[in-house]
Amino acid sequence: MARLGVLAACVLVLLGCAPERDGRATAPHLRVQGDATQLIVDGEPFLMLAGELGNSTPSSLAYLGERWQRLQALHLNTVLSPISWELIEPEEGRFDFSSVDGLIGDARAHDMRLVLLWFGSWKNSMSSYAPGWVKRDEARFPRAQMSDGKGMEILSPFSVANRDADARAFAALMRHLRETDGERHTVLMVQVENEIGMIPQSRDHSAAADARFAEPVPAALMQFLSAHRETLATPLRQRWEAHGARTGGSWEELFGRDLATDEIFMAWYFATYTEAVADAGAAQYDLPMYVNAALIRPGRKPGEYPSAGPLPQVFDVWRAGAPSIDFLAPDIYFPNFVEWAQAYDIPNNPYFIPETGRQPTATPANAFYAFAAHDAMGFSPFAIEDFAAEDPLGDAYEVLSSLAPIILAHQGKAEMAGVRPVVSFEGVAADAPQDVRLGQYNLHVVFVDPWTPREQQDLAAHGGLIIQLGADEYLVAGRGLTVTFAADEGIVGIESIHEGRYDKGAWTPGRLLNGDESHQGRHLRLPPDEFGVQRVRLYRYH
Ligand code: DGJ
Repeated sequence: MARLGVLAACVLVLLGCAPERDGRATAPHLRVQGDATQLIVDGEPFLMLAGELGNSTPSSLAYLGERWQRLQALHLNTVLSPISWELIEPEEGRFDFSSVDGLIGDARAHDMRLVLLWFGSWKNSMSSYAPGWVKRDEARFPRAQMSDGKGMEILSPFSVANRDADARAFAALMRHLRETDGERHTVLMVQVENEIGMIPQSRDHSAAADARFAEPVPAALMQFLSAHRETLATPLRQRWEAHGARTGGSWEELFGRDLATDEIFMAWYFATYTEAVADAGAAQYDLPMYVNAALIRPGRKPGEYPSAGPLPQVFDVWRAGAPSIDFLAPDIYFPNFVEWAQAYDIPNNPYFIPETGRQPTATPANAFYAFAAHDAMGFSPFAIEDFAAEDPLGDAYEVLSSLAPIILAHQGKAEMAGVRPVVSFEGVAADAPQDVRLGQYNLHVVFVDPWTPREQQDLAAHGGLIIQLGADEYLVAGRGLTVTFAADEGIVGIESIHEGRYDKGAWTPGRLLNGDESHQGRHLRLPPDEFGVQRVRLYRYH
């Protein structure tokens, strides 16, 4: 539904209207800028320097208590926090929003925004956050079943009663947010459910699921696949075409008889269920909404990982089944961050990393990379309240916060690059340099620091961003980067390099680094031990 927000905002921009009309602030919404989509809060683009709370933390505001100061010390501006169904609807139809109100009040008191995570029917595949009155009434709220008929602690997506009960609760939450936060906008967006997926089997085998599996594939999905055939994700398209690209038939006739078909089938029913929940919520308060995915270890099959979540091989099924969901987002805990980050950078998928791991080395560099290489709206390491106040993420967020207006101004315009070494799934960072073309110069970025013994360098920690500020001027921020410059014609010289700081978009230069620090004008170097910002002016000679 918030897609309408994007459209409405675009129309307003075309008409030359400000997004705030009649003096009434519009809710947070998404807006396209070039190739990027940005989150607009109170009329301005907003970069979420975020972190996600551990699952249990918000159930005790006292526990969070003084940890808010730690979040401030880490320079966060946004906290992702679960809101669980069982806490807000302890008895059917009796809603208690005290935990939500307390959280919003505390966030405001600490000058923080929130993204709320709806732990409704599913949290990491399971239904552990469904209220007791749902869990205990299996006849009314059926569970998924294993192929041997055993019940699972997973609400079946094939049950209308499950779906409607979840949707009613979610709608009540969104209505409460509109009533209590519709003007102030502490809450920026909402994640619907959490890491949906079937595990340890690839699909639900309940009688209701088997009945759906035997039916023809719904016409709505077939119409979507036919209409988007040229742009379907390769595995889905190949599978469909290998079975004749038919426009009607059973799941197995259309996609084959194996686990991948189970995944496509489940993805459709997870997506359409989630759509009903999201739609009911958006009808009350139309905030941006997304779903997040648990990713896949190499070589694992559907069911060995949470099958049918919003994963690349079923992106199109999710998009067809859940048009009210504005985007699909990856929870990137594996070391091969760049590979997974790229997999979610697809057209019309606003970009957000809602969860990532805590590695003092790689995580801060990944933040720079995500904001610049993928025009991310936000970046959010998990269990943020457990980070030490001196974690390097805080230094990274301090620099990113000072750069936020500049980053936002350049997103979506091919004037910015994110740079970092590629790290394999096994955690090995590649030495390979990276070449970036921005404007009329080629920038050659080397991650092995020339002035630090090689054995003391962890390249996974190196990375940053480059922004073209003018025809001959670039900003480089991050750590562990050495940049040299070339052009198609002539020899490129460095006129000047300054280190410095930004404050609300205004640059204050510090030292001029034209001597030893730049190897007498041969390169720009950001040392590996701290995050810095430098600006370089170039010229050409023959
Ligand atoms: C991913 C989940 O989405 C989070 O809620 C949490 O369980 C983390 N995994 C733990 O690593």
